[in-house]
Amino acid sequence: MTADADRTDATEGRGRVAVVIGGANGIGEATGRLLAARGWRVALADLDEAAGKAVAADLAAPFFRLDVADRAAVEALPGQVEAALGPAAALVVSSGAFQRNVPAEEQDPAELDRILAINVKGTWYANRAFGVGMARRRAGGSIVNLASTTASLATPLSIYGPSKSAIVGMTRSFAGEWGRAGVRVNAVSPGITLVPRVRARLRSEPGRYGADPAEGTALGRLVEPAEVAETIAFLCSDRASAITGIDLTVDCGWGVSAGWAMYGGVRPAPPPPG
Ligand SMILES: NC(=O)c1ccc[n+]([C@@H]2O[C@H](COP(=O)([O-])OP(=O)(O)OC[C@H]3O[C@@H](n4cnc5c(N)ncnc54)[C@H](O)[C@@H]3O)[C@@H](O)[C@H]2O)c1
Repeated sequence: MTADADRTDATEGRGRVAVVIGGANGIGEATGRLLAARGWRVALADLDEAAGKAVAADLAAPFFRLDVADRAAVEALPGQVEAALGPAAALVVSSGAFQRNVPAEEQDPAELDRILAINVKGTWYANRAFGVGMARRRAGGSIVNLASTTASLATPLSIYGPSKSAIVGMTRSFAGEWGRAGVRVNAVSPGITLVPRVRARLRSEPGRYGADPAEGTALGRLVEPAEVAETIAFLCSDRASAITGIDLTVDCGWGVSAGWAMYGGVRPAPPPPG
């Protein structure tokens, strides 16, 4: 990136307020840091108070301890953010609950309630809590929900994947709900992304993803958190001013590779010239 582009990027947020739910770790943390670097005033909310406060201290940002599955707490958040920084112009919902890759008969049905409460209900509560206010203010607004490549691919994750399909569905609904008021609502679907939680799993559960999960993508590697954050920051920004209701995949071509597998796998790179 050129120095000029960096200067433009640093003012992109124009001091507007961006809230990142799930901003204490992983993709949410990377997004909060990037948005702050791009001139947004960032507020973080998360269940993980210790990590959230540490990131918030780095960014001189307010932190709110929040369980996104607690409807009353989520509904109180826009007012708390407004009191601290002003009304939110962007919302990123990056909180997430994950499941074990085990046969269905070994799956604890209580996991269904837990994962749907955090991923589906929590995202819905947050979108409504912030979206209605953005729409009423008529000052624009951008909401980005974290879905997943597992929303559209067939995977063993029979709870997590469908919970993410629901997030894609509600994203499209809310885009219609508030579009005429100038509020854009989009989803980002990462493939396997090397956040600390995933790096730890690759070490502790080497069988979870197959021998070499990077082999399962067209680009032959996994996604970096900064690459997802970059996509989210784009969708938050005015550079994406005509984009609403989409699900933008950031998966190094995992979906591509799944289709090519029937034909023996993606084409190896040609040899270099000479
Ligand atoms: N990393 C990946 O491979 C990957 C792939 C596809 C989609 N995603 C999605 O991206 C989002 C971020 O994932 P990540 O990999 O950064 O995970 P992560 O575990 O690093 O971060 C998730 C954050 O959500 C918070 N959180 C969990 N439950 C919460 C709750 N009830 N209320 C509030 N906060 C809560 C956690 O404390 C954590 O800070 C999730 O929605 C996830 O499903 C991640």
